[in-house]
Amino acid sequence: MDIESLQASSLREIADAASGQQLEDIRISVLGRNGSITALLKSIRDLPKDERPQAGARINGMRTVIEAALVERREALVREERSSNLTEEIDITLPGRPHHRGGHHPVSQTIARIESIFVAAGYRIAVGPEIEDDYHNFEALNIPANHPARAMHDTFYLKDGSLLRTHTSPVQVRVMKSHKPPLRIICPGRVYRKDLDRTHTPMFHQVEGLVVDQGISFADLKGTVLGFLNEYFEREVEVRFRPSYFPFTEPSAEVDIRGAKGWSEIMGCGMVHPNVLRECGIDTEKFTGFAFGFGADRMTMLKHDIDDLRMLFENDVRFLQQLA
Ligand code: DAH
Repeated sequence: MDIESLQASSLREIADAASGQQLEDIRISVLGRNGSITALLKSIRDLPKDERPQAGARINGMRTVIEAALVERREALVREERSSNLTEEIDITLPGRPHHRGGHHPVSQTIARIESIFVAAGYRIAVGPEIEDDYHNFEALNIPANHPARAMHDTFYLKDGSLLRTHTSPVQVRVMKSHKPPLRIICPGRVYRKDLDRTHTPMFHQVEGLVVDQGISFADLKGTVLGFLNEYFEREVEVRFRPSYFPFTEPSAEVDIRGAKGWSEIMGCGMVHPNVLRECGIDTEKFTGFAFGFGADRMTMLKHDIDDLRMLFENDVRFLQQLA
Protein backbone atom coordinates (compact mmCIF):
# COMPACT_ATOMS: atom_id res chain seq x y z
CA MET A 1 0.00 0.00 0.00
CA ASP A 2 1.32 3.45 -0.76
CA ILE A 3 2.09 5.92 1.98
CA GLU A 4 -0.50 8.55 1.04
CA SER A 5 -3.47 6.20 1.02
CA LEU A 6 -2.35 4.47 4.24
CA GLN A 7 -2.07 7.87 5.98
CA ALA A 8 -5.47 8.94 4.69
CA SER A 9 -7.25 5.75 5.73
CA SER A 10 -5.56 5.76 9.16
CA LEU A 11 -6.60 9.36 9.80
CA ARG A 12 -10.18 8.53 8.81
CA GLU A 13 -10.25 5.58 11.22
CA ILE A 14 -8.86 7.74 14.00
CA ALA A 15 -11.49 10.39 13.38
CA ASP A 16 -14.24 7.76 13.50
CA ALA A 17 -12.94 6.02 16.64
CA ALA A 18 -15.60 6.14 19.30
CA SER A 19 -13.63 4.87 22.31
CA GLY A 20 -10.19 4.76 23.82
CA GLN A 21 -10.05 1.05 23.07
CA GLN A 22 -10.71 1.58 19.36
CA LEU A 23 -7.96 4.22 19.28
CA GLU A 24 -5.57 1.82 20.94
CA ASP A 25 -6.36 -0.86 18.36
CA ILE A 26 -5.67 1.59 15.56
CA ARG A 27 -2.42 2.67 17.20
CA ILE A 28 -1.21 -0.92 17.41
CA SER A 29 -2.21 -1.76 13.86
CA VAL A 30 -0.48 1.30 12.44
CA LEU A 31 2.43 2.13 14.76
CA GLY A 32 2.88 -1.25 16.54
CA ARG A 33 5.78 -3.63 16.11
CA ASN A 34 3.88 -5.62 13.50
CA GLY A 35 1.98 -2.62 12.23
CA SER A 36 1.75 -1.11 8.78
CA ILE A 37 4.45 1.49 9.34
CA THR A 38 6.90 -1.16 10.36
CA ALA A 39 5.99 -3.10 7.22
CA LEU A 40 6.50 0.01 5.09
CA LEU A 41 9.90 0.63 6.66
CA LYS A 42 10.89 -2.97 5.94
CA SER A 43 9.84 -2.60 2.30
CA ILE A 44 12.34 0.22 1.87
CA ARG A 45 14.93 -2.48 1.35
CA ASP A 46 13.28 -3.41 -1.94
CA LEU A 47 13.59 0.10 -3.33
CA PRO A 48 16.44 1.27 -5.44
CA LYS A 49 19.18 2.64 -3.22
CA ASP A 50 18.78 6.27 -4.24
CA GLU A 51 15.06 6.30 -3.43
CA ARG A 52 15.46 4.88 0.07
CA PRO A 53 16.30 8.09 2.06
CA GLN A 54 13.33 9.96 0.60
CA ALA A 55 10.95 7.08 1.32
CA GLY A 56 12.24 6.80 4.93
CA ALA A 57 11.67 10.49 5.50
CA ARG A 58 8.10 10.30 4.17
CA ILE A 59 7.27 7.31 6.35
CA ASN A 60 8.61 9.03 9.45
CA GLY A 61 6.61 12.14 8.54
CA MET A 62 3.51 10.03 8.35
CA ARG A 63 4.27 8.50 11.77
CA THR A 64 4.42 11.99 13.26
CA VAL A 65 1.10 12.99 11.70
CA ILE A 66 -0.63 9.84 12.93
CA GLU A 67 0.77 10.10 16.46
CA ALA A 68 -0.50 13.67 16.68
CA ALA A 69 -3.94 12.66 15.38
CA LEU A 70 -4.14 9.88 17.99
CA VAL A 71 -3.33 12.28 20.84
CA GLU A 72 -5.83 14.83 19.64
CA ARG A 73 -8.63 12.29 19.20
CA ARG A 74 -7.94 10.79 22.64
CA GLU A 75 -8.26 14.21 24.29
CA ALA A 76 -11.45 14.91 22.39
CA LEU A 77 -12.95 11.61 23.57
CA VAL A 78 -12.08 12.43 27.20
CA ARG A 79 -13.74 15.85 26.89
CA GLU A 80 -16.86 14.36 25.33
CA GLU A 81 -17.11 11.81 28.09
CA ARG A 82 -16.75 14.41 30.81
CA SER A 83 -19.43 16.68 29.46
CA SER A 84 -21.85 13.81 28.93
CA ASN A 85 -21.31 12.80 32.56
CA LEU A 86 -22.14 16.35 33.61
CA THR A 87 -25.53 16.38 31.95
CA GLU A 88 -26.35 13.04 33.50
CA GLU A 89 -25.54 14.38 36.97
CA ILE A 90 -28.12 17.16 36.98
CA ASP A 91 -30.62 15.82 39.49
CA ILE A 92 -33.75 17.85 39.05
CA THR A 93 -35.27 16.32 42.18
CA LEU A 94 -32.70 18.02 44.44
CA PRO A 95 -34.12 20.90 46.50
CA GLY A 96 -33.08 24.35 45.25
CA ARG A 97 -30.49 26.42 47.03
CA PRO A 98 -32.25 28.78 49.43
CA HIS A 99 -31.70 32.52 49.08
CA HIS A 100 -31.57 33.94 52.58
CA ARG A 101 -33.36 37.25 52.81
CA GLY A 102 -32.29 39.94 55.22
CA GLY A 103 -34.77 41.86 57.30
CA HIS A 104 -34.98 45.06 59.25
CA HIS A 105 -33.97 44.96 62.90
CA PRO A 106 -37.03 44.86 65.18
CA VAL A 107 -36.20 48.27 66.65
CA SER A 108 -35.86 49.76 63.17
CA GLN A 109 -39.25 48.29 62.33
CA THR A 110 -40.73 49.83 65.47
CA ILE A 111 -39.28 53.26 64.68
CA ALA A 112 -40.48 53.08 61.08
CA ARG A 113 -44.02 52.23 62.25
CA ILE A 114 -44.03 54.98 64.86
CA GLU A 115 -42.84 57.47 62.27
CA SER A 116 -45.55 56.49 59.84
CA ILE A 117 -48.24 56.81 62.53
CA PHE A 118 -47.13 60.34 63.42
CA VAL A 119 -46.40 61.44 59.86
CA ALA A 120 -49.96 60.44 58.96
CA ALA A 121 -51.11 62.74 61.79
CA GLY A 122 -49.21 65.70 60.32
CA TYR A 123 -45.96 65.50 62.30
CA ARG A 124 -42.52 66.03 60.79
CA ILE A 125 -39.45 64.01 61.68
CA ALA A 126 -36.56 65.87 63.30
CA VAL A 127 -33.07 64.69 64.14
CA GLY A 128 -30.27 66.02 66.28
CA PRO A 129 -26.68 65.13 67.11
CA GLU A 130 -25.80 62.18 69.35
CA ILE A 131 -22.80 64.08 70.65
CA GLU A 132 -24.48 66.94 72.46
CA ASP A 133 -23.44 69.74 74.74
CA ASP A 134 -24.46 70.39 78.31
CA TYR A 135 -26.60 73.31 77.23
CA HIS A 136 -28.97 71.39 74.93
CA ASN A 137 -29.02 68.15 76.91
CA PHE A 138 -29.60 69.79 80.32
CA GLU A 139 -29.38 73.54 80.73
CA ALA A 140 -31.97 74.63 78.16
CA LEU A 141 -34.29 71.88 79.39
CA ASN A 142 -34.47 73.53 82.80
CA ILE A 143 -31.90 71.16 84.34
CA PRO A 144 -29.19 73.52 85.62
CA ALA A 145 -25.89 72.26 87.04
CA ASN A 146 -26.38 70.59 90.44
CA HIS A 147 -30.05 69.95 89.68
CA PRO A 148 -30.92 66.60 91.31
CA ALA A 149 -32.43 65.37 88.01
CA ARG A 150 -28.90 65.16 86.60
CA ALA A 151 -28.27 62.23 88.90
CA MET A 152 -30.94 60.25 86.99
CA HIS A 153 -28.85 60.51 83.84
CA ASP A 154 -25.63 58.52 84.18
CA THR A 155 -23.96 60.55 81.53
CA PHE A 156 -21.03 59.64 79.28
CA TYR A 157 -18.82 62.73 79.07
CA LEU A 158 -16.24 63.32 76.36
CA LYS A 159 -12.82 64.84 77.03
CA ASP A 160 -13.76 68.20 75.55
CA GLY A 161 -16.74 68.57 77.91
CA SER A 162 -19.35 67.49 75.37
CA LEU A 163 -21.45 64.44 76.13
CA LEU A 164 -23.44 61.61 74.56
CA ARG A 165 -27.04 62.75 74.75
CA THR A 166 -28.90 60.99 77.54
CA HIS A 167 -32.29 61.52 75.90
CA THR A 168 -33.83 62.87 72.69
CA SER A 169 -35.26 65.91 74.49
CA PRO A 170 -32.38 68.19 73.35
CA VAL A 171 -33.82 67.90 69.83
CA GLN A 172 -36.88 69.79 71.15
CA VAL A 173 -34.61 72.69 72.01
CA ARG A 174 -32.89 72.66 68.63
CA VAL A 175 -36.20 72.56 66.76
CA MET A 176 -37.82 75.34 68.82
CA LYS A 177 -34.77 77.54 68.34
CA SER A 178 -34.64 77.04 64.58
CA HIS A 179 -38.34 76.94 63.68
CA LYS A 180 -41.33 79.08 64.54
CA PRO A 181 -44.51 77.52 65.93
CA PRO A 182 -46.82 75.85 65.08
CA LEU A 183 -44.57 72.82 65.55
CA ARG A 184 -45.47 69.17 65.33
CA ILE A 185 -42.44 66.90 65.37
CA ILE A 186 -41.17 63.57 66.52
CA CYS A 187 -37.47 62.80 66.89
CA PRO A 188 -36.36 59.20 66.98
CA GLY A 189 -32.76 58.45 67.79
CA ARG A 190 -30.04 56.81 69.84
CA VAL A 191 -29.36 57.87 73.39
CA TYR A 192 -26.68 56.80 75.87
CA ARG A 193 -26.46 56.17 79.59
CA LYS A 194 -24.02 54.29 81.83
CA ASP A 195 -26.33 51.42 82.59
CA LEU A 196 -26.42 47.69 81.90
CA ASP A 197 -28.86 45.07 83.16
CA ARG A 198 -31.90 43.14 81.96
CA THR A 199 -33.82 46.31 81.22
CA HIS A 200 -31.00 48.79 80.50
CA THR A 201 -28.29 48.99 77.85
CA PRO A 202 -25.67 51.77 77.48
CA MET A 203 -27.17 52.68 74.11
CA PHE A 204 -30.89 52.60 73.49
CA HIS A 205 -33.49 54.34 71.34
CA GLN A 206 -36.00 57.00 72.21
CA VAL A 207 -38.72 58.80 70.36
CA GLU A 208 -39.46 62.34 71.42
CA GLY A 209 -42.61 64.21 70.50
CA LEU A 210 -43.25 67.93 70.61
CA VAL A 211 -46.26 70.04 69.71
CA VAL A 212 -46.27 73.81 70.14
CA ASP A 213 -49.18 75.93 68.98
CA GLN A 214 -51.81 78.33 70.26
CA GLY A 215 -54.25 76.82 72.72
CA ILE A 216 -52.53 73.44 73.15
CA SER A 217 -53.74 71.79 76.37
CA PHE A 218 -53.17 68.65 78.40
CA ALA A 219 -56.31 67.24 76.74
CA ASP A 220 -54.51 67.42 73.38
CA LEU A 221 -51.58 65.56 74.90
CA LYS A 222 -53.83 62.88 76.32
CA GLY A 223 -55.74 62.40 73.08
CA THR A 224 -52.51 62.22 71.08
CA VAL A 225 -50.92 59.66 73.38
CA LEU A 226 -54.06 57.50 73.50
CA GLY A 227 -54.53 57.62 69.74
CA PHE A 228 -50.93 56.69 69.16
CA LEU A 229 -50.91 53.78 71.64
CA ASN A 230 -54.10 52.27 70.23
CA GLU A 231 -52.66 52.44 66.75
CA TYR A 232 -49.25 51.10 67.73
CA PHE A 233 -50.53 48.15 69.76
CA GLU A 234 -53.41 47.56 67.34
CA ARG A 235 -55.94 47.25 70.14
CA GLU A 236 -57.90 49.41 72.54
CA VAL A 237 -55.22 49.78 75.23
CA GLU A 238 -56.00 50.46 78.87
CA VAL A 239 -53.96 53.53 79.83
CA ARG A 240 -53.27 55.40 83.02
CA PHE A 241 -51.67 58.82 83.45
CA ARG A 242 -49.75 59.12 86.74
CA PRO A 243 -48.64 62.53 88.02
CA SER A 244 -44.85 62.71 87.82
CA TYR A 245 -41.98 65.15 87.60
CA PHE A 246 -39.70 66.21 84.77
CA PRO A 247 -37.79 69.50 84.92
CA PHE A 248 -38.78 70.37 81.33
CA THR A 249 -42.54 69.86 81.70
CA GLU A 250 -45.17 71.18 84.07
CA PRO A 251 -47.47 69.47 84.82
CA SER A 252 -45.79 66.15 84.06
CA ALA A 253 -47.11 62.63 83.88
CA GLU A 254 -45.97 59.10 83.31
CA VAL A 255 -48.09 56.85 81.16
CA ASP A 256 -48.71 53.19 81.97
CA ILE A 257 -50.47 50.61 79.84
CA ARG A 258 -52.11 47.44 81.10
CA GLY A 259 -50.82 44.21 79.61
CA ALA A 260 -51.00 40.53 80.53
CA LYS A 261 -48.51 41.07 83.35
CA GLY A 262 -50.16 44.16 84.83
CA TRP A 263 -49.28 47.83 84.41
CA SER A 264 -46.12 48.80 82.51
CA GLU A 265 -44.70 52.28 82.41
CA ILE A 266 -44.09 53.34 78.83
CA MET A 267 -43.55 57.07 78.56
CA GLY A 268 -43.01 60.41 80.18
CA CYS A 269 -44.88 63.49 79.07
CA GLY A 270 -46.23 66.86 80.09
CA MET A 271 -46.85 70.46 79.12
CA VAL A 272 -43.62 72.10 77.99
CA HIS A 273 -42.30 74.16 80.91
CA PRO A 274 -42.52 77.94 80.32
CA ASN A 275 -38.81 78.22 81.20
CA VAL A 276 -38.01 75.93 78.27
CA LEU A 277 -40.29 77.78 75.85
CA ARG A 278 -38.80 81.12 76.92
CA GLU A 279 -35.23 79.82 76.63
CA CYS A 280 -36.04 78.84 73.06
CA GLY A 281 -37.50 82.23 72.21
CA ILE A 282 -41.15 81.24 72.16
CA ASP A 283 -43.74 83.70 73.38
CA THR A 284 -45.39 82.00 76.36
CA GLU A 285 -48.31 84.44 76.29
CA LYS A 286 -49.24 83.18 72.85
CA PHE A 287 -48.10 79.57 72.72
CA THR A 288 -48.27 76.46 74.81
CA GLY A 289 -47.03 72.98 74.01
CA PHE A 290 -46.82 69.40 75.08
CA ALA A 291 -43.99 66.91 74.85
CA PHE A 292 -43.52 63.22 75.38
CA GLY A 293 -40.66 60.77 75.26
CA PHE A 294 -40.45 57.02 75.30
CA GLY A 295 -38.10 54.14 74.60
CA ALA A 296 -38.42 52.54 71.17
CA ASP A 297 -36.70 49.40 72.45
CA ARG A 298 -39.20 49.17 75.27
CA MET A 299 -42.07 49.59 72.81
CA THR A 300 -40.60 46.72 70.77
CA MET A 301 -40.33 44.52 73.87
CA LEU A 302 -43.92 45.21 74.91
CA LYS A 303 -45.24 44.55 71.43
CA HIS A 304 -43.40 41.24 71.00
CA ASP A 305 -43.37 40.13 74.64
CA ILE A 306 -39.57 40.18 74.94
CA ASP A 307 -38.39 40.33 78.53
CA ASP A 308 -34.66 40.92 78.13
CA LEU A 309 -33.65 44.17 76.45
CA ARG A 310 -30.17 42.86 75.76
CA MET A 311 -31.59 40.39 73.21
CA LEU A 312 -32.28 43.34 70.94
CA PHE A 313 -28.58 44.20 70.79
CA GLU A 314 -26.87 40.80 70.78
CA ASN A 315 -27.90 40.35 67.15
CA ASP A 316 -28.39 36.61 67.37
CA VAL A 317 -29.77 35.86 63.92
CA ARG A 318 -32.02 33.08 65.25
CA PHE A 319 -33.77 35.65 67.42
CA LEU A 320 -33.85 38.41 64.81
CA GLN A 321 -35.28 36.08 62.15
CA GLN A 322 -38.38 35.50 64.23
CA LEU A 323 -39.20 39.19 64.05
CA ALA A 324 -37.87 39.99 60.57
N1 DAH B 1 -36.45 62.79 78.39
C1 DAH B 1 -37.13 61.90 79.31
C2 DAH B 1 -36.22 60.72 79.64
O1 DAH B 1 -35.32 60.44 78.93
C3 DAH B 1 -38.38 61.38 78.70
C4 DAH B 1 -39.38 62.45 78.58
C5 DAH B 1 -40.26 62.72 79.58
C6 DAH B 1 -39.43 63.24 77.43
C7 DAH B 1 -41.22 63.71 79.50
C8 DAH B 1 -40.38 64.25 77.32
C9 DAH B 1 -41.27 64.47 78.37
O2 DAH B 1 -40.47 65.00 76.24
O3 DAH B 1 -42.17 65.47 78.25
O4 DAH B 1 -36.42 60.07 80.59
